[in-house]
Amino acid sequence: MTSSPPALSADIDVEPLFEPLRTEKITLPNRFAMAPMTRKMAPGGILPEGAPAYYRRRAEGGLGLIITEGAVPPHPVGHHSEDVPDFPGAGEERWAEVAREVHAAGSKVFVQLWHAGLKRDASDTANPTEPSIGPSGVYPNDFPLKRAMTDSDIADVIAAFASAAATAQRIGFDGVNLHGAHGYIMDQFFWSRTNRRDDGYNGDISTRTRFAREVIGGIREAVGPDFPIMFRFSQHKNPYYEVRLVENPRELAQLLEPLADAGVDFFDPSLRRFWLPEFEGSDLNMSGWIKKITGKPTMTIGSVGLENPMSGAKMSEVKDTEVSLVNLGSLLAMFRRGEFDLVGLARSVLTNPGWPKLVREGRFDEIYPYNQTVVMERLECAHENAPY
Ligand SMILES: Cc1cc2nc3c(=O)[nH]c(=O)nc-3n(C[C@H](O)[C@H](O)[C@H](O)COP(=O)(O)O)c2cc1C
Repeated sequence: MTSSPPALSADIDVEPLFEPLRTEKITLPNRFAMAPMTRKMAPGGILPEGAPAYYRRRAEGGLGLIITEGAVPPHPVGHHSEDVPDFPGAGEERWAEVAREVHAAGSKVFVQLWHAGLKRDASDTANPTEPSIGPSGVYPNDFPLKRAMTDSDIADVIAAFASAAATAQRIGFDGVNLHGAHGYIMDQFFWSRTNRRDDGYNGDISTRTRFAREVIGGIREAVGPDFPIMFRFSQHKNPYYEVRLVENPRELAQLLEPLADAGVDFFDPSLRRFWLPEFEGSDLNMSGWIKKITGKPTMTIGSVGLENPMSGAKMSEVKDTEVSLVNLGSLLAMFRRGEFDLVGLARSVLTNPGWPKLVREGRFDEIYPYNQTVVMERLECAHENAPY
């Protein structure tokens, strides 16, 4: 528990965040989404028995949309850890149960699909004798075996994403969240430091979206027009928090418009502090800019209800942080101005599965701070070195 109850000014009315979000393809019961969180609790790539109940608890706790931990489409070098689940791999029935349990609690569920590309590191990698693949075989890490993707590698990874998304649709998921952030494979194409190709996959930021567009297009072809695709991207790469893909709204439009045209329905910019303006001369944060540019439903995220941002590439580097509900005032003000549609919560709901309900009912002194001891004691996430 927090030592003293966190302050929330009495004039803050959180009810608007409990209004449904109605979009062309899906209706979500409220505006709170559980953000994707790796747990590294899937030995051999199979989700553990407790996973459906873990997600159901969060749906019952008031999260209208559950986005699952990152899961790997069927491709031999998509993993950085054998404890990260395959999608679906041999765990298809357990994944289907996740969807059923979340639905039974009245919420919707998207699976996050990721491919690590060159992000595999030497300490913890499945298939360590196989080289990592990515746009140019270049990534600032210590895994020694790396190579640039050939055209056939590109086709294989696109097919793997498309097949995983088709499976998600078939077994009852409501959509997919594509990990195009944090230095994962699509982000490796976006980032000029890791994309040094001299073909049609490199150029300005708009050209560097080609691989992601092809992944989105492959998925769209496999799932048809009505299945929601959410796209996560980030300026920063873990742990390179200073990196920026785009410096101004014009470049942001060059990044987003091709992705929207390729079939993205929701954007999920990974932010560490939701209240920070993105570009000089405007108070809009990244989510606000995305809505302005694309008009697409957009999530915001980053230290909602917490004092400090997420830091470190590994759980062991993630600092504990206190609860702070003061920033909900800014969140509500930004929401009322229409700057985003959904609020993502990660650490707050790892330690407090019922965070939205607790906040709605004013039970602030029942909210736990985020610290690894609480998380690990409750066995809601495996230890030390969960990368994301
Ligand atoms: C334990 C943990 C695991 C995470 N795993 C993922 C992941 O699998 N995929 C992802 O895109 N982001 C991952 N993240 C980042 C979160 O989705 C989120 O963007 C970040 O924690 C900021 O939200 P917060 O301030 O509410 O914690 C992870 C974060 C944590 C704390």
